[in-house]
Amino acid sequence: MGGGRLLSSFWGRSLGVLRAGCRVGQAQRPRLTSWAVCSNSQLIWTLQSKPWVFDEYRTMWFKSCRMTFLSLNRMKSYWQLWTRLYSTSQTTVDSNEVKTFLAMAHKWWDEEGMFAPLHSMNDLRVPFIRDNLLKTVANHHPGKPLSGMKILDVGCGGGLLTEPLGRLGASVFGIDPVDENIKTAQHHKAFDPVLDKRIEYRVCSLEEIVEETEETFDAVIASEVVEHVADLETFIQCCRQVLKPTGSLFITTINKTQLSYALGIVFAEQIAGIVPKGTHTWEKFVSPEKLESILESNGLSVQTVAGMLYNPFSGYWHWNENTSLNYAAHAVKSMVPDHSGPAEVVFKGETEEPQAEVSTIPGVHGELKK
Ligand SMILES: C[S@@+](CC[C@H](N)C(=O)[O-])C[C@H]1O[C@@H](n2cnc3c(N)ncnc32)[C@H](O)[C@@H]1O
Repeated sequence: MGGGRLLSSFWGRSLGVLRAGCRVGQAQRPRLTSWAVCSNSQLIWTLQSKPWVFDEYRTMWFKSCRMTFLSLNRMKSYWQLWTRLYSTSQTTVDSNEVKTFLAMAHKWWDEEGMFAPLHSMNDLRVPFIRDNLLKTVANHHPGKPLSGMKILDVGCGGGLLTEPLGRLGASVFGIDPVDENIKTAQHHKAFDPVLDKRIEYRVCSLEEIVEETEETFDAVIASEVVEHVADLETFIQCCRQVLKPTGSLFITTINKTQLSYALGIVFAEQIAGIVPKGTHTWEKFVSPEKLESILESNGLSVQTVAGMLYNPFSGYWHWNENTSLNYAAHAVKSMVPDHSGPAEVVFKGETEEPQAEVSTIPGVHGELKK
């Protein structure tokens, strides 16, 4: 009995609140007058004799709950984005970089536009990644040589490199902190049903992936990304954590030299307009020596460092012995536990060092390691 009174007073209060709050379509709908919620018996009478009143208000009540839930969810995602960008903890995402790339997010697939050098860089970087990965497998399907491999493409942008890797048969997970980039990438891959299945995209940082998974990927790619990250050491540690033992990390980036300042920033951004002004910050460029030292000290054994040269007149890239402008690096996750914090979590007792292989990629004349 007591329970019944409680229940009816609950419904009475709820209906009263709903009556005050929901004014949509009142003209057509049966009105619930104040006497209906005055007493429990009257309320029960109303519910029994006019059940549609209950149905109408129940629907409105659910709708209002749903809207509240959606608004709270939206607020949560804004909060997560805000904390990701502005948190003082070790984030690798720089909010200024996010703004820069947001403004260019719809230009990715214009082959003649500002991302033209990245389109043509595929001529070098796709075979570089493919051939180094194939050294680790005995047999492969000629049409889909990377089939069975899981690749993480960090800072995938609009998917310019993600797609060709997917076409080679790999399952590729592309992540980028700029949601408009991921929208562009999603939209473009949807044109190809095969790629649509092989590639997955997500708006997130590398640290978020590390929180979810470890030792998952055969390869991690960060192509033209490390010069945009806020904390390179943390970024490299995260790359290592998500790699399977003996997995490969591929990086392409810009050296920190006077020449890279003159050509990469003054000429490319301010004179020739090959890339938009403000895309690069010279202070964030990293020399191959510094990068190698960070890689090695974080348990990644450097296999190859090769110079790349862009000809702005032909629009093509070439391998070059000189690394003073652009370069590509390949490192393999070492099985010996290193001294970095996160790596200790990853290792599960393996102590044997893998035999490092020397690059045999035709046309690569970089400094070969080990
Ligand atoms: C020059 S674009 C390269 C895009 C793609 N990797 C390619 O080569 O086509 C740099 C990308 O890195 C992303 N980015 C910037 N900071 C990042 C970070 N801390 N972590 C991951 N990606 C980042 C940008 O949003 C942008 O999409």
